[in-house]
Amino acid sequence: MESQADKSVLLDALVLGAGAAGLMTAAVAGQGGARVAVLDHADEPGRKILISGGGRCNFTHLEAQSDRYISANPRFARSALSACTPQDFLGLVERHHIAWHEKDAGQLFCDGSARQIVEMLLAECTRGQVKLALGQQIEDVSHDGHCFHVRTNRGLWQSRTLVLATGGLAIPKLGATGLSLQLARQFGLKTTDVAPGLVPLTLSPSLAELAGVSLPVTASLAGGAGKAGRQAPRFTDGLVFTHRGLSGPAILQISSYRQGPQPVCLNLLPHEKDVLGSLLALRQARPKAQGTALLPGLPVRLARMLVAETMDERPVGAQSLATMRRLAERLTRWELTPSGTEGYAKAEVMRGGIDTHGLEQKTMEAKTVPGLFAVGEAVDVTGWLGGYNFQWAWASGTAAGRAL
Ligand code: FDA
Repeated sequence: MESQADKSVLLDALVLGAGAAGLMTAAVAGQGGARVAVLDHADEPGRKILISGGGRCNFTHLEAQSDRYISANPRFARSALSACTPQDFLGLVERHHIAWHEKDAGQLFCDGSARQIVEMLLAECTRGQVKLALGQQIEDVSHDGHCFHVRTNRGLWQSRTLVLATGGLAIPKLGATGLSLQLARQFGLKTTDVAPGLVPLTLSPSLAELAGVSLPVTASLAGGAGKAGRQAPRFTDGLVFTHRGLSGPAILQISSYRQGPQPVCLNLLPHEKDVLGSLLALRQARPKAQGTALLPGLPVRLARMLVAETMDERPVGAQSLATMRRLAERLTRWELTPSGTEGYAKAEVMRGGIDTHGLEQKTMEAKTVPGLFAVGEAVDVTGWLGGYNFQWAWASGTAAGRAL
């Protein structure tokens, strides 16, 4: 791959952002015969890929259909996701002889290292004769009616089409910026509200005495309705109490649906069908025991706290039916109102982005600005935890790449 701009050449496609979606777009477009360059301000491509999935990149999820994505336009992602499926991406991974494994039903990871995915994308770009230009600070972007002009600290680039692929605002220290949102607005596209997604929640007071305690829960939103009045799903997965609040996969998932000060509802015994019945049976079997004996399945610190909050100090045989009901309610419907989130510094994604109503769903091209495309996390399509966000990057990149 070349790293210098050949400024005399009018490119077919200029991709801003050498992340997951930008590299995929460039590889597909280049292999389709387009003259393509990718610009990035970072010194290396695919930095988020490198740190993803604990360094092993959870590169797709086998169940990546549009109902696993959050968007103000819920059906938008369907077309791209069906034109580039998890199996299609897996085929590419296997052609590059990257060993992989499945974890937690449907989540696919590299056996080795996330770097293999970056190297695979770069090899695909090389096959498409894509120019990769790193360390490019983008200073100005304009369109003269015929082509796009992008001025960087290193020179001027000109192209028939421009692809916004600079991702979202999550993890600024890895170089995340709002450039795609800003350029979309500059060209008259709408953007939705954006917020950190897949993010730990904070509590005030924080329940710091439980920090480090983890257990499986079902997390839902109290009141049920999430964004735009739609019902948020329930997520049964791990929860971790942190020094500042709540984390773990179940919390990250529900965080993407939460609006404003909405309480989170936890079922601490998600696999127990009749919690009150079990508590009453234990009370009868061990009337002289202390309250924590009623909660053998819970971590001790959590059990102690719940018992202290719901019962007096007498043995369980002396506790009333109303007390048992209160404890059962707390175990199955514990409502906590987070004070906020840990923000973009700790978020895995940005939710919201470039409004999809302004984009063609088959090509990702702006309806009102021919030649302008947007892909990946910059677009208002936010996946669940578990490989869905990369699948969106591959799928939206493929859709745009084929149209360039
Ligand atoms: P991405 O962020 O990958 O790329 C954007 C590129 O644009 C970057 O190279 C950046 O340097 C560049 N850029 C930004 N601003 C610029 C500017 N102003 N000028 C020039 N260049 C600019 N998802 C998943 O499916 N499985 C997983 O295992 C994980 N794990 C994970 C872990 C962590 C810690 C994070 C933060 C995120 C994940 N994700 C994930 C989410 C996933 O990484 C994310 O959704 C995709 O990388 C989005 O791909 P994009 O190409 O849209 O943006």
